[in-house]
This record gives sequence, structure tokens and C-alpha cells, in this order.
Amino acid sequence: MQAEVEVDVENDSVAVAPAVAQAMTDGAKPRFITFEGIDGAGKSTHIEAVAAWVKARGVEVVVTREPGGTPMGESLRELLLAEAMHLETETLLMFAARREHVAQVIAPALARGAWVISDRFTDATFAYQGGGRGVPREKIEALADWVHPGLTPDLTLLFDLPREVAAGRMASSRELDRFEIELTDFHERVRAEYLRLAQAEPARFRVIDANLAPELISKELEKIISSL
Ligand code: TYD
Repeated sequence: MQAEVEVDVENDSVAVAPAVAQAMTDGAKPRFITFEGIDGAGKSTHIEAVAAWVKARGVEVVVTREPGGTPMGESLRELLLAEAMHLETETLLMFAARREHVAQVIAPALARGAWVISDRFTDATFAYQGGGRGVPREKIEALADWVHPGLTPDLTLLFDLPREVAAGRMASSRELDRFEIELTDFHERVRAEYLRLAQAEPARFRVIDANLAPELISKELEKIISSL
């Protein structure tokens, strides 16, 4: 495959990163990459750049998100972010949306050799509904086994930072949803559960210090992606 994209990582985060470009070949295996972290950690800014590095080499990349990713999933997302509900209803709706997402988007994309980059996946349910709300871990594990047996991300990028910093970033930016307005305690429990998951599966997780400058995070991501 010919590289047709100018490499200029310093000045354009969307340009193909050299290390990524080098690591990727025609026969690159499909990859499932997820971005996770507490609200306000800044992961969304980096998703498009990572997708562009991969795409620039001619590999199909599907960028998606949870809850959401399908028309039904997006409807469920609206409900989930706006309506108060029982914590188990919340958990089940997250997995209902995920079932559609896996069937319609993630599994078909991986089957045709594409890379899938998802803004959140099942780790978010362990962190928010498990750590944050107190749903027992075993119940979430059972749902994960039911909804996507054998499907685990190849790489999970966990954007980590203290809740106070994240809250400060979000305060001025926009209207907050039902999860974002939760108190510090809730988000600290979410964060702790994310870190526990990362510790339990060090081969899959990379913990990103979301307090670093965006350029430094971008460089670190480039290194990580290229090592896949
Ligand atoms: P996100 O897309 O990160 O929000 P935004 O677009 O506002 O940055 O995620 C939406 C919210 O949904 C977020 O607060 C976390 C929550 N969430 C759960 O509680 N459980 C889940 O399983 C998922 C996927 C998300």
C-alpha cells in the first residue's frame, strides 16, 4: 500500500503518525479499540485523531459510541441521559443498546476486517452502574457474557484524572446530563472501578494521564497504537 498522506504530527494531529503508518500493512488484523474514563476526562478530542491515523493508511475505521451507535441505541441514549430510573433498568438498557450495537455495527465491521473505535463499551457499565451505582459485578458479568460472549476490546485507553479537575473542565462547556451532574463521590467510585479494571487486565488497558497537555497525550497514543 502506498502512503499518500504527508506526515506532520507536530502541526496536525490528523496527519498520519509515522509510527502508526509503519506498523500498519495491507493485511492488518481487525482491531477493537475502546476509549473510557470519567466524564470530562477529554477522551473525545483524541478519538478522531486516532481514527484518522489508521484511516490514512487505507484501513477501514468505524468510529462509534455507547450508549448509541445505532438508531435504536441513540434513542435509548436520549432516555438514559435524561430520565431517572431504577439502577437495574439503567443497566439493562445499557446492555439492550449494546446488543443492537454489537449485532449491527461492531461484529459486522470486525468481520469485514475494519478497525472499530468505540467511545465507551462494557467497562463503562462496570464503572458507572457497578462502581458508581452499586450494581453487583456478577450481574454485569452475566449480562456481558450474554450480550457479547467472546468479544473483548483488543485495547482500552483509559483517560484518568481526578474528578475535581474533570468537573472544572466541564463546568463552563455545556449543559450537563444525568451522569455528569452526579456528585464527586459517585465519580470517584467510577474512577476507582475503572482503575481496578485496568489493574486486573494490564495487557488490555493503557491508563492515560488526562492531566497532561493534549500534544503529549497525542504522542503517547501514537506510540500505543503503533505497537498494536
Ligand atoms: P459519553 O458519550 O462519554 O458522554 P458525552 O458525550 O456527554 O461526553 O457517555 C454518556 C454517559 O453515559 C456517560 O456519563 C457515562 C454513561 N454510561 C454509563 O453510565 N454506562 C455505560 O455502560 C455507558 C456506555 C455509558
